[in-house]
This record gives sequence, C-alpha cells and structure tokens, in this order.
Amino acid sequence: MRKRIEELILEAGRKARAETSDEPEPQYTGDVEFPIECKVGRGLEGAVASTTKVGYVNGARGWLVYRGHNIFDLAAYSTYEETAYVLLFGALPTKSQLDEFKQELKSKRGVPAPVMEVLRQISPKTHPMSALRTAVSMLGNLDPNADDTSVEAETKVAIQLIAMFPTLTGAVARLRWNKEPLQPNPELDHAANLLYLITGDAPDELKERVLDIALILHADHGMNASTFTTMVVNSSLSDMYGSVTAGVASLKGPLHGGANERVLYDLEEIGEPENVDAWFAKADATKRKVMGFGHRVYKAYDPRARILGPLAGLLVEHHPHEAKLYKIATRLETVVCGKMAEKKIFPNVDFYAGLVYRAVGIETAMMTPIFAVSRVAGWTARALEYLGDNRIYRPRAIYTGPIHLDYRPMGSRG
Ligand code: CMC
Repeated sequence: MRKRIEELILEAGRKARAETSDEPEPQYTGDVEFPIECKVGRGLEGAVASTTKVGYVNGARGWLVYRGHNIFDLAAYSTYEETAYVLLFGALPTKSQLDEFKQELKSKRGVPAPVMEVLRQISPKTHPMSALRTAVSMLGNLDPNADDTSVEAETKVAIQLIAMFPTLTGAVARLRWNKEPLQPNPELDHAANLLYLITGDAPDELKERVLDIALILHADHGMNASTFTTMVVNSSLSDMYGSVTAGVASLKGPLHGGANERVLYDLEEIGEPENVDAWFAKADATKRKVMGFGHRVYKAYDPRARILGPLAGLLVEHHPHEAKLYKIATRLETVVCGKMAEKKIFPNVDFYAGLVYRAVGIETAMMTPIFAVSRVAGWTARALEYLGDNRIYRPRAIYTGPIHLDYRPMGSRG
C-alpha cells in the first residue's frame, strides 16, 4: 500500500513538472536589502512582509517547498513529525533527532484538566474552530511562563502546541456528540493518534498514511492569512498562545481554511454527478464562488490538490461509501477548469481535502480543525523565525474620508 501511495505522489510530481509554465518568478538566495520595491494591490496582494527560509510558493509554476524540500518528496517519503521538525529547525533530522522529537511530542500530548473543563462548557452547536480557538487561549492562561517571549521559550510553546492540537481537536470532536474525550495513545504516531482521538479506533495503514500526507501538505504555505495573522500578533511581542489563537480564528474563514468543509456542503448540495453542469452554470451566473477553487498565489494547479485528488480516488476504491461525492467532485473540477481556464482557476488544497477527511472517518464540521492541527507547525515556525529579527508589523491605510469636519453639538444635528 505504501508503495502504491508513493507512486501516485511521484506520478503527480512528474505531471506537475510536465504541465507547469516556464514563466520565471524571481528567486532570492542571498540577503535582501529593505526597502524593496513592490506593487501592492487590494488585500495586500503583491506586498512583501518579510524574508523567510521556512517555505516557498511559486504560483506560476505550482511549486511548494519547505526548507528547500519539494512537497512531492515530502509527501512521498516524510511524516508529519519529520515535516514539523524540518519547518521548525530548518533541516531534515538525523534518526536520533527525529526519535527524540517524536518522543517529546508524545510526552506533551496531555491537555490540562481546566482546558477540558472549558471545552465541556462550550455548546455543541458552536463551530469546532471557535471551540479550538478558546482552548488554545485557555492553555495560555495556564502557562506561568507564557509571557517569556524569548525564541527559546516560544520554541517550547510551539512544540507543546503541535503536540496538543490533536488532543484538543479530538476532545472538540467528541464533546459535540456528548462523547467522553479520549486520552492520547502513546503507541500511535501523530496522524494515527489524531484519528484515534476523534473516532475511538486506531486507523488501518491506508487511512493513517493518507491522513499523515494530508497533514504534511497543509503544514505551511507562505504568507497566507492565518500565518500572517499569527506573525502580526507575535511581532508585538505578545505571547505564542495568543498569536496561535489568532491564527486559528483567521483559518476558520470560508475564504481560507474554512473552504474545505464548504466544499463538502457544495458537493452534497449538487447531489448527483449529472447535476454538476447545471449547478455550476447557476453559480457562475450568480457570481457565487465555487469553494475549493482559485488562489491568490497559484495561477497553476495547486501541487497539494495534485496529490490529494489521486489519494481521494485511492481511498474511495477502498471505502466506496464516498464514491458518489468523488464522482461529483471530479466532474466539477472538469467543468470549472474548462469554463474558468482564462482566469487560471484550478482546484486548491481544500477541494479534495474534505473528501479525504470524510473517507478516513472525519465529519465535515471537523475538517478545518484538522487543517489547524497541521498548520500550527507553519504558523509557529514562521513566527519564531521572524521573532529572531523582530520588527513590529505596522502597515498603513490610505484615508479616503473627509478631514476638518465641524463638531456639531447634539442639539443641532437634526
Ligand atoms: N469561484 C469562482 N470564481 C472565482 C473563484 C472561485 N472559487 N476564485 C476566484 N474567482 C474569480 C473571481 O470571481 C474574480 O473574477 P473577476 O476578476 O471576474 O471579478 C477572479 O477570479 C479573482 O478572484 P478574487 O476573489 O479577486 O481572488 P483573491 O486572490 O482575492 O481570492 C480566494 C483568492 C482563494 C479567496 C478565492 O479564489 C476564493 O474565494 N476561492 C474560494 C474559497 C476557497 O477555496 N478558499 C481556499 C483557498 S486555498 C487554501 C487556504 O488558503 O485555506
């Protein structure tokens, strides 16, 4: 099974290399002198917020690189734990470094009882991302060293958060259904433990490996909204818990991480493969955005979707209960890509992620927290890198309102 998955990913990588454009995009490999010139559009499009060695996205070519390693290699050969190590510490670990890191993560999975108490008080109707956000914030209240903003102290918090996110997510998933949260299972690695904490069952090899790959694919992605949010908060020398709490809040939105669950709602709304064309025609006519498509940076096929698409197909072969949704999804991809080719709209990471999560047994409302379980590595890696040479983020807005209005007393305002 592992070999088959590896081959699917390497094939996706070969396809990516064959299909993507040669359009050059500037690459910097040395020092960058600020100020630099850039043209800034709405939504900070084109703005440069920092230099980084954590990760690189080349939108024209469809490249994604973590610390110099391309995403196809990481997905084929790495694990989430190793990927998190690479993001945090800058290079592939030796065997003993990885063993030690995995052990440290396992030892830090336990969540303090007061956080569980807070989660129990949250209504099951609350969105799981809001519950997760509250839990991360509460963790900060319990750490007496939370205000130590040295890189060393914040690195410890980062590792602790990476370790605890599956436990928090599992608790949120179970409490929604009135089920007792489970204790982390030290026999299981990160992805398998996450699934166990949600479903109560240790997953089979296929489910574990595919979820592990999904976590690798979501771990970092340039200056996306939640990463930038985390960095902005951290740049004021606030604490890492607060910064990550803000990152969770930002990821929740449907234009960002929240798109993965919206894709599933859309696929369910479409209902049957033969309804796809009419559904899209209506969406297009009413300018409704199709969730899981388009990207600010990628103007080529998102490499993460290139991997998740075939993996969703593989899961469906083994778990045919999602076969109809998969068929609807592949038809929707054909229709959207065909009709929106000029705008260079392709599936993004969120399009097939939801199908993958569904097939491994995760309910739709829990999909964005799974994204957070992974992205916490990228958030903290970039916040820590920036903290090493920190300058508070402080852009400006162009004021377009009036100036010098008279202050009219209440009685004369009509
Ligand atoms: N469906 C239909 N049209 C689209 C879509 C879409 N999903 N995405 C972009 N467009 C069109 C858009 O209508 C606009 O057309 P026009 O120029 O004629 O007005 C053009 O493409 C540019 O779109 P935009 O909204 O200005 O692009 P943006 O860079 O501000 O937004 C985006 C990027 C990802 C928010 C957007 O593509 C979108 O809303 N997609 C759907 C939500 C989604 O899938 N989000 C997940 C993003 S990837 C993972 C993540 O970050 O979590």
